[in-house]
Amino acid sequence: MLGVIGDPVAHTASPAMHNAALAATGLDYVYAAFHVAPAALPEALAGMRALEFAGLNVTVPHKQAVMHHLDEISVEATAIGAVNTIICREGRLAGHNTDAFGIIQSLKTDGGLQSLPSKVALLGAGGAARAILYALLAQDEVTEILLLNRTVEKAEALAGDLDGQGKVQVASLAETSGLAEAGLLINSTSIGMHPHEDDSPLADPSCLHDRMLVADIVYNPLETVLMRQAATVGARSINGLGMLAWQGARSFEIWTGVQPPVAAMVAAALARFGEANT
Ligand code: ATR
Repeated sequence: MLGVIGDPVAHTASPAMHNAALAATGLDYVYAAFHVAPAALPEALAGMRALEFAGLNVTVPHKQAVMHHLDEISVEATAIGAVNTIICREGRLAGHNTDAFGIIQSLKTDGGLQSLPSKVALLGAGGAARAILYALLAQDEVTEILLLNRTVEKAEALAGDLDGQGKVQVASLAETSGLAEAGLLINSTSIGMHPHEDDSPLADPSCLHDRMLVADIVYNPLETVLMRQAATVGARSINGLGMLAWQGARSFEIWTGVQPPVAAMVAAALARFGEANT
C-alpha cells in the first residue's frame, strides 16, 4: 500500500500518476489519497506503521510536522526542512525530500539544459523556494543565484539558512535589473496559479531575454502569464508538470527500487487535470 496524506487532498494528481506507473511496471502496489487533518497526523502515521504501508507522500500542511514522527530523516530533507516522501521498512519510518531532485531533472530533461547556467534567478522564498534553492546550491556550475521575493526579509532568512558559500544575492521582486545576465529564471511563487491565472510575478516582462530558460513551477494552468511573457521576448519556457512528475518518480524509486516511466506519469497527471477542469 502506497498513498498521499494531505489536507486538502482531493485534487492531488499523485494517485493518477503513481497508479499509471504501477500499471506500466506491473508492480504489486496500490496508491490512494488519504485526507488527514493536522490533529490526526500522529495517529495516521501510527496507522501506517501498524498496517505496514510501504510508503507515503506527504503534502500540505504536513511536510514539516511529519518530521517529528519519523525514525530517520535524509540529509537533504533535513536541510530543506520538509519531508514529502516516507518509506516504511521493518516498522521504521524514514523521511526524504524529492522536490530538489524533481526540479533539476525537469530543467535537464524538459528544459533541455545539459548543465545549468552560472547565473540563475529564483522568484519566491516559501516552501517550494527552499527546496529549489537547496537544489541550485548543490550544482557546482551555478555560481550566482539572485533570490527575489516580495518580502525581502523572508528571502534574506532563507539565504542565511542555506547559503554557506556566498552564492546568493537577495532583492525585492520589483528589482529585476539583475535578470539581464541570468540564463535561467525559476518562478517558485504561487502567482499565476488558478484561480489567479491572470497574474504574473513580473510586472514588466522586458527584464526577460531570449538567452534564458523560464521555468514556472505552476502547472495549473499549463501555460501561465509568465510563460507567455517569456514567449514575447523569444525565451523558452517550461511549466511545473515536469517537476511534479519527476519528484513523484523519485518517490516511486525510493519505495520500489524501480525507475518508473515518467512519460506515463505526466500523461496521467494531464488526464487528471482535464477531468478536474470539466
Ligand atoms: P509554497 O510552499 O507553495 O512555496 P508559501 O510558502 O506560502 O508557498 O510561499 C509563497 C511564495 O509566493 C512566497 O514567496 C510569497 O511571497 P512572500 O514571501 O512575500 O509572501 C509569494 N507570493 C504569493 N502570492 C504573492 C503575491 N500576490 N505577490 C507577491 N508574492 C507572492
